[in-house]
Amino acid sequence: MTNVSESRDPADLPRVLDVLRLAFADHAGRVDPPSGVERETVASLQAKLEKEVLLVARDDGVISGCIWCRSQPGGNFYIGRLAVDPAFGGRGIGAALLDASIQRARTMSAPAVDLNVRIELSENIAMFERRGFVIVASESHPGFDRPTNYRMRLQLVQP
Ligand SMILES: CC(C)(COP(=O)(O)OP(=O)(O)OC[C@H]1O[C@@H](n2cnc3c(N)ncnc32)[C@H](O)[C@@H]1OP(=O)(O)O)[C@@H](O)C(=O)NCCC(=O)NCCS
Repeated sequence: MTNVSESRDPADLPRVLDVLRLAFADHAGRVDPPSGVERETVASLQAKLEKEVLLVARDDGVISGCIWCRSQPGGNFYIGRLAVDPAFGGRGIGAALLDASIQRARTMSAPAVDLNVRIELSENIAMFERRGFVIVASESHPGFDRPTNYRMRLQLVQP
């Protein structure tokens, strides 16, 4: 049984880092430039926790997934680093984390939810599109002359 809740506990961060590394391992060699997840450490997650909301999924008490949310007062909600330990994949945990973050955005009266997705990750783009996100922009990482990211948006309140 999956339970999604906010964590402010630094003791959760080593396992969250493991989940991120396990989940994003599949992206190595698939996305260029490599994911920033490869540079995360417990210390960088600790700094992130001071500015962002961390939602974790737990299965029988074990952290199985995470998503990080940034609430921008009066502005769009931003979500990132959605990750599920592959050992727990395909059981609806990613969808539950996404739904919980969207619910939080609604609670904050955010007009929209934004995320970035690498253009190579067509299965993720399709998953977000099935939930109502649309591509609103393409962006390039520094040093790249082609788009590397899509900015996707779920509009919650019509502008
Ligand atoms: C993307 C991710 C979070 C999905 O987590 P999950 O718990 O396995 O996914 P769920 O079981 O909740 O399924 C969510 C959707 O993804 C689809 N999906 C799950 N695994 C999939 C796979 N291997 N290939 C294609 N689609 C897949 C499901 O069909 C489902 O679609 P639907 O609900 O719209 O029908 C997980 O695969 C992951 O951590 N990937 C690596 C990190 C990553 O890409 N993060 C997102 C960065 S933008």
